[in-house]
Amino acid sequence: AATNRLEAENAVVSQGVVESNHAGYSGSGFVNGDNASGSYTEWTVNAATAGSSTLAIRYSNGTSPTRTANVAVNGTVVSANRAFNSTGNWDTWATVSITTNLNAGANKVRITATTADGNPNFDYIDATTPGGGGGTVTADQLL
Ligand code: GCU
Repeated sequence: AATNRLEAENAVVSQGVVESNHAGYSGSGFVNGDNASGSYTEWTVNAATAGSSTLAIRYSNGTSPTRTANVAVNGTVVSANRAFNSTGNWDTWATVSITTNLNAGANKVRITATTADGNPNFDYIDATTPGGGGGTVTADQLL
């Protein structure tokens, strides 16, 4: 399956900002969500066919405590209180992967902070295309 990169700076952000003041990000920046439970970043993943997709979420957590978030697809939490472990500093990035089913058409992938620490910083999601390569996966602004 093809892999499609969906930059966080092109996603919808509730309670947060796009920044570029830490190194190592892809694209033009990353999303710094507010330190608040309920803050989220939401990507649109547009799939030509329904099926399984792996979402590789690139993030940074420069604090010691693990940050946790609910990952929801089309309004259903598919990974609750998912752990985003410390990366040691804000210039170091790691990946958390989730495999989930996507619908044909537009899918909303929302990652919502579940503690007052907020989300980690998000760089992008690499989404594999369901159906073995025939589909396309595009970011919000390309729809
Ligand atoms: C620091 C850091 C931000 C990060 C924030 C946080 O302010 O510079 O990039 O988002 O901590 O705690 O989430």
